[in-house]
Amino acid sequence: MASIIDGKALSLSLKDGMKAQMEGLEAEYGRRPGLAVIIVGENPASKSYVAGKIKAAAYVGMDSRLIELPEDISEDALLAKIGKLNSDSSVDGILVQLPLPEHIDEDKVIDAIALEKDVDGFHPGNVANLWLGRPCTVPCTPKGIIRMIESTGIDISGKNAVVIGRSNIVGKPVAKLLLDRNATVTIAHSRTGNLKEVCRQADILVVAIGRPGFVTADMIKPGAVVIDVGINRIKCVKEDGSEGTRLVGDVDFNAALDVAGHITPVPGGVGPMTITMLMENTIECFKRKF
Ligand code: GUN
Repeated sequence: MASIIDGKALSLSLKDGMKAQMEGLEAEYGRRPGLAVIIVGENPASKSYVAGKIKAAAYVGMDSRLIELPEDISEDALLAKIGKLNSDSSVDGILVQLPLPEHIDEDKVIDAIALEKDVDGFHPGNVANLWLGRPCTVPCTPKGIIRMIESTGIDISGKNAVVIGRSNIVGKPVAKLLLDRNATVTIAHSRTGNLKEVCRQADILVVAIGRPGFVTADMIKPGAVVIDVGINRIKCVKEDGSEGTRLVGDVDFNAALDVAGHITPVPGGVGPMTITMLMENTIECFKRKF
């Protein structure tokens, strides 16, 4: 039976550490770290994610503001808003929740955020520095994944790591972070031919493909560390017989429990750690200013 990597508990202990630092930071630097979160439109999943980010900022005691912009805002108006936040000295971190409406060019928006305020680590300057091994802001989800693997006490060095998914937000950066820790890394994806065999070689399996239950028990090496990045809302029948929805990951969790050594749950795994790493990145950007 796999042991469960409790992302919620790990997050809470990290946030408590940050909360304890906050008064000291204010005394030392004269103000608290400031985070600005921009959301465009009414996407319910995005709204719930940004609410979690603002709640975490309040918990650790940093200054935060949520900027809610209408779905039909022009690209120029959004870029102007970012420009203002770039020159606002009380703002250390700027996050624009993705995805954006189709009429807005995401690349232009990411590029517009000042490099030193890019708490997501999505700016090309941060991406380049990550791949060059230079100091940078590390993207939140990959950073949280590494922390969760490290929390098992298993040494990443020399292990076979397989990452399913090649997104800029998760797959590519987490592969680099694993490589930095001397794992032998394979990036697999929906078109990988012999995916089952590839996955079965993995001592560490990171799944970020966005398909509910995609990884089945027969794809997991016995004893492997399995990190499930998927957040999929699926229909279900509730206890009272009515129709509802619930969140599931990309891994068939119940079946995987019998095979894996360690596994993250959904919800309560990668999600809370992503938010906590955002808090950490904001504090890092704040400190770099001084
Ligand atoms: N959408 C999904 N994940 C993320 C994230 O980590 N940051 C931002 N800005 N948008 C997202």
